[in-house]
Amino acid sequence: MADFRTLELITAGGPTTIVIGARALEAFTGLLDQADLGSPAAVVSNDTVGPLHGRGVAEAVGARSYFELPDGEAFKRWPQVETICAEWLAHGVHRNDVVLAVGGGVVTDTVGFAASIYLRGLPWVAAPTSLLAMVDASVGGKTGVNLEQGKNLVGTFWQPRLVVADTSCLETLPERELRAGLAEVVKAAWIGDQDLLELLPTAADDPPNWDEIVHRSVQVKARIVKDDEREAGPRQALNLGHTLGHALEAVTGYERFLHGEAVVWGLRFVLGISRRRGLLSDDSASRLEGSLRRLEPLPSIRDLDSGAVMQAMLRDKKADARGIAWVLPTDDGVLLGQRVLEAEIRTEFEAMRGGPPQVE
Ligand SMILES: NC(=O)c1ccc[n+]([C@@H]2O[C@H](COP(=O)([O-])OP(=O)(O)OC[C@H]3O[C@@H](n4cnc5c(N)ncnc54)[C@H](O)[C@@H]3O)[C@@H](O)[C@H]2O)c1
Ligand SMILES: [Zn+2]
Repeated sequence: MADFRTLELITAGGPTTIVIGARALEAFTGLLDQADLGSPAAVVSNDTVGPLHGRGVAEAVGARSYFELPDGEAFKRWPQVETICAEWLAHGVHRNDVVLAVGGGVVTDTVGFAASIYLRGLPWVAAPTSLLAMVDASVGGKTGVNLEQGKNLVGTFWQPRLVVADTSCLETLPERELRAGLAEVVKAAWIGDQDLLELLPTAADDPPNWDEIVHRSVQVKARIVKDDEREAGPRQALNLGHTLGHALEAVTGYERFLHGEAVVWGLRFVLGISRRRGLLSDDSASRLEGSLRRLEPLPSIRDLDSGAVMQAMLRDKKADARGIAWVLPTDDGVLLGQRVLEAEIRTEFEAMRGGPPQVE
């Protein structure tokens, strides 16, 4: 077990142990012991990840209940929460039991939410299996589901007691999902550990050091979340690249872009704004741009109307009466709460539209 990297995240919601490493799920029982947790009474995965990783873990820990959600963001909704709670009740899961989520961010968000309200809340463990879930969704204790009106509109802060990120699960993750997850790695690196960019995979035959990449990305997020569990201040930094990213996802009905792909466009966009404003040196700008280039090709934005994108940004739940508070990259991090004029937004969007290779 000495090979695993471990972090302790302490927030108002309690302590979370985060363990990162290849084959960490094979050592799961020992990790539960170390964290002073009993075996999970219930395991929830989805019908893609379950056969690959979830069922094996459920068997190894001898869970009383094992359940698979249908795969997809479309199923991150109320009915699944109710189904999970009913399943747990049927198997006698009680208040002191531990439950485990094995999957990407959709599974960890939904199961974490169910855990936070089932019998008024019980302890949970996350085993994130996508890169995005390892570096982002499973760290920080935000849980929730989507409503018809928008994403993540219902939810809680409910910290997992233990997070086990088994980086060997990434071997089965589709390449496109992997690249989308790297968008969040680039974001974290820019906010708090720019040398991490040197670790990004360069060529297909160059096996990345996932343990180090995940560990350092999680360190950045954990540092921010520790100081600001409920997103009053510094946590806004994590929104870097997300203002435009969320709008692109919304105007295309959440069908064209993976979240990370929209975030790459969003990062490119704020890079452009910062450069025009003289907030980024040429060296920094080309460093950030070079990292984003590795995440291409991206689904196209050529046909999108900048007016519609503007409207979608103003509807974002993070916009307030004063408009949108932008997070802009600087040479050594980010500036929070920046106002950007509509004319500036249009100019940058038009410039970017003709930009890098795009898949039509
Ligand atoms: N709670 C938070 O703080 C937070 C932060 C960021 C994102 N999120 C949420 O996370 C979700 C996105 O997460 P995601 O990108 O992991 O999406 P996802 O859970 O839909 O996973 C992406 C796809 O990869 C599959 N998959 C996952 N791991 C796999 C593996 N090891 N092998 C093969 N296939 C695998 C999934 O079944 C799915 O088809 C969104 O709902 C988003 O709102 C939450
Ligand atoms: Zn994101």
